Amino acid sequence: MKGIILAGGLGTRLYPLTHATNKHLLPVYDQPMIYYPIQTLVKAGIQEILIVVGGPHAGDFFKVLKNGKDFGIKHMEFAYQESGDGGIADALRLAEDFAEHDNIAVILGDNCTDADISQQVKDFKEGAIIFLKEVRDPQRFGIAEFDSQEEKKIISLEEKPQNPKSNLAITGLYIYDNKVFDYIRQIKPSARGQYEITDVNKLYLQAGKLSWAKLESFWSDAGTFDSLYRTGVYWANKKLKDL
Ligand code: DAU
Repeated sequence: MKGIILAGGLGTRLYPLTHATNKHLLPVYDQPMIYYPIQTLVKAGIQEILIVVGGPHAGDFFKVLKNGKDFGIKHMEFAYQESGDGGIADALRLAEDFAEHDNIAVILGDNCTDADISQQVKDFKEGAIIFLKEVRDPQRFGIAEFDSQEEKKIISLEEKPQNPKSNLAITGLYIYDNKVFDYIRQIKPSARGQYEITDVNKLYLQAGKLSWAKLESFWSDAGTFDSLYRTGVYWANKKLKDL
């Protein structure tokens, strides 16, 4: 399986911090944010990684990551998302050539977790897997609704709902088969003008090919001031405890 990290977008929620560099290179305790998703994929046994970058500071990624050898990555590539912030699915579409006909593990560049997804990567055959995590602020995320009778069955997915049907966020960690690129071609931009990954996941749900797993370990995005701060505090405490 190949790995894709989506680190495009403009990071406008973090202005003024992102005026001078890319959001994914900001510090999360003692590492640039992008190190965390890279480590998640490497820990899952993935050795070929494409990083989709974007915005005016995309060149800074080379200074930080070079050729990826420091992480034990065999092969690292970059793609540039020209649309600025056209959406997560728009960024993922750039991975089609890199993926060839392989399955892909996708992680958002601002998602920091100590979850181990190596089992799911190893066992994956077809369809899609999304990873869920309870959150306190469900309006900020994609949310999964479960059948109340049959608790294991997802019946709807909604992106940033005003009245969330659960507190189970769809984290920015996904596994897809190659069909994902056909699905991306089928979706239309949302009301906020973005190609939404939740719309892609809805097509897998409709096709009966969407599986899910709950993340038991720490997971957070780091794309707002609050979440950036809280994520940094988590890693600081964890690493200082291990000393
Ligand atoms: O973090 C989990 C959430 O991420 C999910 O629950 C949502 O379903 C999903 O839409 C996403 O929501 P956000 O509003 O947090 O996404 P954001 O616009 O902050 O983008 C997250 C990352 O995705 C960003 O760090 C880089 C990548 N991205 C985003 C956009 C908009 C791109 O590569 N290109 C883009 O155009």
